[in-house]
Amino acid sequence: MKQRRNVLAATLVAGALFITAAGAQAQSKIRIGLMLPYTGTYAALGTAIENGFRLYVQELGGTLGGREIEYFKVDDESEPSKAVDNINKLIKRDNVDVVVGTVHSGVVMAMAKVAKDTNTLLVIPNAGAEAVTGPMCAPNIFRSSFSNWQPGFAMGKVAGERGAKKVVTITWKYAAGDESVEGFKEGLKASGGEVVKDLTLPFPNVEFQALLTDIAATKPDAVYAFFAGGGAVKFVKDYAAAGLNKTIPLYGPGFLTDGTLEAQGASAQGMLTTLHYADGLDVAKDKLFRADYNKAYKATPDVYAVQGYDAAQMLAAGLAAVKGDVSKRSELVAAMEKARIDSPRGSFTLSKAHNPVQDIYLRKVVGSENRFEGVAVKELADPARGCNMK
Ligand code: PHB
Repeated sequence: MKQRRNVLAATLVAGALFITAAGAQAQSKIRIGLMLPYTGTYAALGTAIENGFRLYVQELGGTLGGREIEYFKVDDESEPSKAVDNINKLIKRDNVDVVVGTVHSGVVMAMAKVAKDTNTLLVIPNAGAEAVTGPMCAPNIFRSSFSNWQPGFAMGKVAGERGAKKVVTITWKYAAGDESVEGFKEGLKASGGEVVKDLTLPFPNVEFQALLTDIAATKPDAVYAFFAGGGAVKFVKDYAAAGLNKTIPLYGPGFLTDGTLEAQGASAQGMLTTLHYADGLDVAKDKLFRADYNKAYKATPDVYAVQGYDAAQMLAAGLAAVKGDVSKRSELVAAMEKARIDSPRGSFTLSKAHNPVQDIYLRKVVGSENRFEGVAVKELADPARGCNMK
């Protein structure tokens, strides 16, 4: 009799525990860690990404996979030496289910290593580092943006077609700049040009004068520059102030003029760049997105906002398939892998390495717009060199 009572008591306790656990699962929020730059030369990029991400979550009533979202934020300062500590704050302290980040390629490489070691789901809403969809590629790492190679390669092709035979490149000396320049060289070579000089300065320095003097003396047919955010504003202005824009066309991946045109003003007019987004696209989703973004933030979205929005769309596709149950990781990943993302840039799918396969547009600066001029390369996939996805 006593034994039976004990069994009954144990059953009741177990039942209560079960109900509590099930209730917690149904009610608890999905914990999203945003690791982005909120200070420094890339600060505006981080904010645009967060705005875009939140906008899509709002469209789903503040949920993903039917569960409410709770955000945890870390300012990574675009500082690679702090990256491991910063992502561990999100993973270990805040116990997030997924990390969304970041902008800077050097920071993202450190993040990807931690994400791999801890099997944390990572969605990269900007940083183009080739390693993370190359040798470091993994089932738990996705990118909603681009590889540094993609816009660089497209610009090289266009520059060569426009008759640039001898080109000088200039960039910050780190993975993004180096890889962007390598992509450019590949495209340029394929269309008959060559790079005669590579100029660099440390990230995030903006002391361009000596380098501009060098360009003036070298007299190339064109210049290819990788800079973004605050640094891009200053470079384009300094290039024009030196009078170089009158004689030597300045080309770049679209980061050189995206989200920066108001500050660059007259100095950027007429510039040609290549990117996976543009103003004036004939994409129905883009028209809705722009209207909603404008309403929410009183601002015109740029490529970074699009990439944030699409990071949320990718996660939503995965989480919907598992009804918000993040423990069903392989089903979640499979759903993200096969999703077609209805992006404002035009719809895209992911490569085997989890990087967007996308059209790269040629754009021209007209007033405050990076106006769509045409498709530079259709459905361009990153070569994903070194990726051996298990
Ligand atoms: C990068 O570090 O990968 C990076 C940063 C800013 C951009 C593009 C790429 O606009």
